[in-house]
Amino acid sequence: MSAVVDVRQAVCIHRTADSEVVALRGADLLVDEGELVALVGPSGSGKSTLLALLAGLLRPSAGVVEVLGRDVGRATERQLLAHRSTGIGMLMQGPERNLLPYASVRSNVELGALGSDLRSVARRRRVDELLDAVGLADAERRSVRSLSGGEQQRVALAAALVAGPRLLLADEPTSQLDRDNAVRLTRLLRSARSRWGTTVIVVTHDAEVGAAMDRSLTIRDGRIGTEERRGEHYAVIGRDGTVQLPADVAGRFPPGGRARVVRRAAHIELHPLDTGSEEER
Ligand SMILES: Nc1ncnc2c1ncn2[C@@H]1O[C@H](COP(=O)(O)OP(=O)(O)OP(=O)(O)O)[C@@H](O)[C@H]1O
Ligand SMILES: [Mg+2]
Repeated sequence: MSAVVDVRQAVCIHRTADSEVVALRGADLLVDEGELVALVGPSGSGKSTLLALLAGLLRPSAGVVEVLGRDVGRATERQLLAHRSTGIGMLMQGPERNLLPYASVRSNVELGALGSDLRSVARRRRVDELLDAVGLADAERRSVRSLSGGEQQRVALAAALVAGPRLLLADEPTSQLDRDNAVRLTRLLRSARSRWGTTVIVVTHDAEVGAAMDRSLTIRDGRIGTEERRGEHYAVIGRDGTVQLPADVAGRFPPGGRARVVRRAAHIELHPLDTGSEEER
C-alpha cells in the first residue's frame, strides 16, 4: 500500500497583523491509500488547519506535507490548483461554504467537475452517477437553498466526489445534521471507498462517525497524539520520540511535572511523581 498522506513534523503558524498563532506544532500523519481516518480533538486544536494543509490551501511553516506524492510546501501555485481540482475533494466546515445556494443541485455538482479532464459526455454521466449515489437524482433541478441541511450536505459530498478525487477531506460534515442524516452521510463516506477506492479523512466530534472509520486520531495542541482502532487505544510516537498520553490518564501527569520511567522485560511503565524529590531512573 502506498501512502496518500505523509506529514512529517508539520508546523503551521497563522499570522495576522498583530498576532501569531501556532496551529500545528510538529504534527505527524501517515495515511495509506483506501484508509478511512477520523480526526478528533478539541476546538482550536488544529484540525481544520491540518485539512487546509492537506488540500494545499495553506503551506507548512516548517516540516513536510506530502499528499498524493506532491510536496505541498514546494509546489507551485499552479500545481496546487491542479492538486485541488482533480486529486482532492473537500467538504469545508459549515455547509454554506461548499455550495452556491441559488444554483440548482445539478449545477452545484457540475461545478465540482470543473477542472477535471472528463469530456462532456463522461462528465454528464459522472454527475448522474453522483446524484444517484447521494439519492438526489429527483431533486437535480431544485435550488440548493430549498433543500434541508442533510440534503445540502449530500449535494456538497456529490460535488466533492464528482471529479473522482483519490482523497476526500471532510471537516465536520455531520455537525449540523440530525441522527438519521448523520448516519446516512457516514454511510456515503464509507461507500466512497468501496465504490471508487477513495481515501477519506474526516474531522468530527461525532463518536459514531469516528467508530465508522478504520481508525480515529486525536489531535491536541497541534500534534497528533493518540489513536483508537477497533476499541483499542494507542499512543502515537512522534518522529521526535514524543508521546501524548491518552486524555483519561493525562490528568495524572501534571504538565511540566515528571514521570518515572521503569523498564520491564516486555513493557515500560510510567509512574507519576507527586514531588520533584524522587530520583528518576
Ligand atoms: N486564518 C487564521 N488566522 C489566525 N488564526 C487562525 C486562523 N485559522 C485558525 N487560527 C487559529 O489556529 C488555531 C487552530 O485553528 P483550527 O481552525 O485549525 O482549529 P480546529 O481544531 O479546526 O477548531 P474547531 O473545532 O473549532 O473547528 C486556533 O487557535 C485558531 O484560532
Ligand atoms: Mg475546525
